[in-house]
Amino acid sequence: MFIGAIALFISSCLENKEAAYEIETNIGLLIEKMTIEEKVGQTCQITLDALLQKDENGLLTNPIKFDEEKLKEALTEYHIGSVLNVGWCTFSKEEWDYVNTTLRNAYSSGKIITPIIYGIDAIHGVNYTKGATLFPQEIGLAATWNPDLAEEFASITAYETRASGIPWNFSPVLDIARQPLWSRTFETLGEDPYLASELGASIIKGYQGDSLYIDDYHVAACMKHFVGYSGTNSGRDRTPAWIPEKYMQELYLPAFKKAVDQGALTVMVNSGTVNGVPGHANKRLLTDILKQEWSFKGFAVSDWEDFIMLHTVHKTDSTLKEAYISAFNAGVDMSMVPLAPQYKEYCEIMIDAVKEGRISMERLDDAVRRILRVKTLTKLFENQPDLKKYDKFGSEEFKLASRNAALESITLLKNDSILPLKGTEKVLIAGPTANNLIYLNGAWTHTWQGQDTSFNTVGCLTIKQAFERRLDKKMLFAQGAELYSDNFIEKSRLVDTQEYLKKLDQVEVVILCLGEMPSTEKPGDITSLNLNPEQLELARMAYNKNKKVVLVLTEGRPRVIRDIVDNASAIVQCYLPGDYGAEALVQLIYGEQNFSGKLPYTYPRYDGIIEFYDHERSVDRDNNGGFNAFNPQWEFGFGLSYSQIQYNNLQLSTPQLVGDSILNVTVEVTNMSTIACKEVVQLYLSDDYASTAPANKRLKRFVKISLEPNEKKIINFNLSTEDLVFIDAEGKERKENGKFTIKINSLVSSFDYKSGK
Ligand code: BGC
Repeated sequence: MFIGAIALFISSCLENKEAAYEIETNIGLLIEKMTIEEKVGQTCQITLDALLQKDENGLLTNPIKFDEEKLKEALTEYHIGSVLNVGWCTFSKEEWDYVNTTLRNAYSSGKIITPIIYGIDAIHGVNYTKGATLFPQEIGLAATWNPDLAEEFASITAYETRASGIPWNFSPVLDIARQPLWSRTFETLGEDPYLASELGASIIKGYQGDSLYIDDYHVAACMKHFVGYSGTNSGRDRTPAWIPEKYMQELYLPAFKKAVDQGALTVMVNSGTVNGVPGHANKRLLTDILKQEWSFKGFAVSDWEDFIMLHTVHKTDSTLKEAYISAFNAGVDMSMVPLAPQYKEYCEIMIDAVKEGRISMERLDDAVRRILRVKTLTKLFENQPDLKKYDKFGSEEFKLASRNAALESITLLKNDSILPLKGTEKVLIAGPTANNLIYLNGAWTHTWQGQDTSFNTVGCLTIKQAFERRLDKKMLFAQGAELYSDNFIEKSRLVDTQEYLKKLDQVEVVILCLGEMPSTEKPGDITSLNLNPEQLELARMAYNKNKKVVLVLTEGRPRVIRDIVDNASAIVQCYLPGDYGAEALVQLIYGEQNFSGKLPYTYPRYDGIIEFYDHERSVDRDNNGGFNAFNPQWEFGFGLSYSQIQYNNLQLSTPQLVGDSILNVTVEVTNMSTIACKEVVQLYLSDDYASTAPANKRLKRFVKISLEPNEKKIINFNLSTEDLVFIDAEGKERKENGKFTIKINSLVSSFDYKSGK
């Protein structure tokens, strides 16, 4: 019965049902043969560092080498099930081959009874493998509003991850960006649950492919970080979030639900607390909702040291043992312990807890079954593919895909008719982020924080170099200011100011590159969204000399730039566009390509106020009796292009929607210019009145279309009455009769809904 139910979940087609039945039977037979020690070991994940040789100073040897004793102890005495990471450098494919072949051999030679599953953070390409194709970070992918590009990014990343011998990727982040201070905003797909759900599902599809077994070109995905991690009140990483049930269901859960429906095989757990309950002890979310209600049959891995942190940080468990029992019984199946000797203590404590009955054998078997299921579906029990067959690794085709993603992502926020540049203007390239790849890539690039420049991809261009190539070096450069990290506090200082001022006098246009130091997690904590004063000062110096300034932003989160917006001639948001971002930027600035990126978040005008596009109406209320208070710098979904696009003739199939019928919405979109473009048609819905204060509007559908010069297209959307559902204060779904309004661009049309009862 149990096996049958799982087989049914894994696939509905007959052939797959039979395969799934066989998988579950084989796993059952293996579990029967396993000792408690072996089962507990399966749930233990350790970092690669814990297995490597160190020199007399405690540093890893170069080249890296496994420490045979440590390896033997971890694999055959503690039976660990998984290894993760590298975060301090970038390996060559050959080094990865050495790592994976060594771990693999332990299984194929019969020393261990199950293969090790290796996991890595390949979050914008395989960022820890030399020569891999680095894409825009997720926030940039979200700005493309293009699910096909998101899928393409993921399938190339999966290919290159497999080419590094690794079958499991800790990606995508499905956290919703509702706190712009949060250092991991760039790792998200933006502030909207629908956009994140659609793009998230495309990424999962690109990582895992479509078949029951993950083939040699795909990897198991890992949804992160379940759930509510991004909603931190303070803005600091891993600090409390307060999320009422209504918003948990409306904002934070949908992208995970959609990913589970898409077949995501693993999930990583939220390191913070939600409503006072640590993510790792939240049985309701992990077991009741994720595993039972949603039928998730993969496994949940903890985040870094988070079993331990229930005791040391969150203080919900007075001993390590209680902490491990809480996390495991809440539903976390694998513990990223991940250091030595802590992992040994973890295994020993867990074995005791099982023997004492504090963790039931049924629960342990469930976790092991889930882990072995993923190991089976990633074909780890079979011979591993020969890494030589991945001849498209780092290919021109992949680089082009990355550049295309950057082209569709980079967003034009302001243009006083200065762009596109003609190519004849005298140009100064300036600013702290102009001449290093680290500012295009951000954290999780070659190293954890992405600040070490020694691994930068050879042959990829910085912004300065891309302009140099385009202008045959006929341009000037002055950095003007530099960013630096002072013990992980981001700072900036002016440099060579006289040179900058002198060169300003020699040009008509300044491309001023501003942004952030790469950083993530706790090292990325900031106390204010304001861009550092020295960077603003560079803009002011150029304005004082009446120069035309194009502000180019490379930033992981939207930093407040209000004071330098009005005098800028153009503003371009690059997010973190990856290794080919500079080439894409130059093509866009000179009009060889058209802009089509749209903001995946509300860009704040002020440092203090935090608001989102789907706010309740009271947020609009100003102190003059009007409704104009909501006044971000730029709205969610905003982005200009070189074309003029007109929206006409918004039509609804009926003014009266009854029962469960479908509402058909059409709109005409016309490119009024002679420049081909891509446009994101965005459909928003407002519930005019509801028993719980309704959102101003909510994104319900979008599509990215291409328009030739003067071309008109009629776009069709279908809405079902499910789209009218909201969550009430008790967390219950409600669909209420009344008037609803559809908004597409500046067009508005309403209909009445009656349940028919
Ligand atoms: C991060 C995760 C990451 C893990 C492994 C943690 O600190 O929160 O997102 O997957 O490390 O590197």
